[in-house]
Amino acid sequence: MRITGLSRDLVNSVLALMDQGAPYVKARTASDYWLYARLFASTCPVAIVDGFVVGAVIAMRSQEDPSEIYIQDVMVHPDYRREGVAAALVGSVRARAERWGCKRIYLTSEPGNAAASGAWTSMGFVNSPGDYAVNGVSIVRGFKGPGKDRAVFELTLS
Ligand SMILES: CC(C)(COP(=O)(O)OP(=O)(O)OC[C@H]1O[C@@H](n2cnc3c(N)ncnc32)[C@H](O)[C@@H]1OP(=O)(O)O)[C@@H](O)C(=O)NCCC(=O)NCCS
Repeated sequence: MRITGLSRDLVNSVLALMDQGAPYVKARTASDYWLYARLFASTCPVAIVDGFVVGAVIAMRSQEDPSEIYIQDVMVHPDYRREGVAAALVGSVRARAERWGCKRIYLTSEPGNAAASGAWTSMGFVNSPGDYAVNGVSIVRGFKGPGKDRAVFELTLS
């Protein structure tokens, strides 16, 4: 497996990958990914196996607080799950965050997304306290706007 930064020539492949993410990941448009490739490539790693895009992460460093990185989407092709692809991709974001001296990486997942919460926990993320729990995972009400409750996970870097 090769991990590389999102580049413009990978935009269509990443879009096709994200298109398979329902119900938890919704693909954005090609121009969004094109923009991410221009602006955030170093925090948008793409996993490639035999020339095929099998996973991607979209993350960005905060302008308000540059010690924070927010991971917006993590997606692994259904045929390549449980092979460490997400762990390698998030590990790549983490390595970048550590080089920058960042203090925190955080992300959210939807209530009931057991694969996601299992993955974040296995990678050392901690579930932030919330307003209620679903299957033992704390959920913050309205974290992403009215009606958009999310489980919040964060990784503190030393
Ligand atoms: C969540 C997701 C990104 C995990 O990707 P992955 O490449 O399969 O994860 P990894 O192989 O790196 O798994 C690392 C660890 O996470 C945990 N994990 C991963 N999938 C899991 C599952 N379905 N159930 C429980 N734990 C799971 C395990 O501890 C795993 O280690 P192990 O396989 O040695 O037991 C993947 O299932 C996916 O793309 N889902 C659809 C999109 C999505 O929901 N994205 C997250 C929302 S942003």
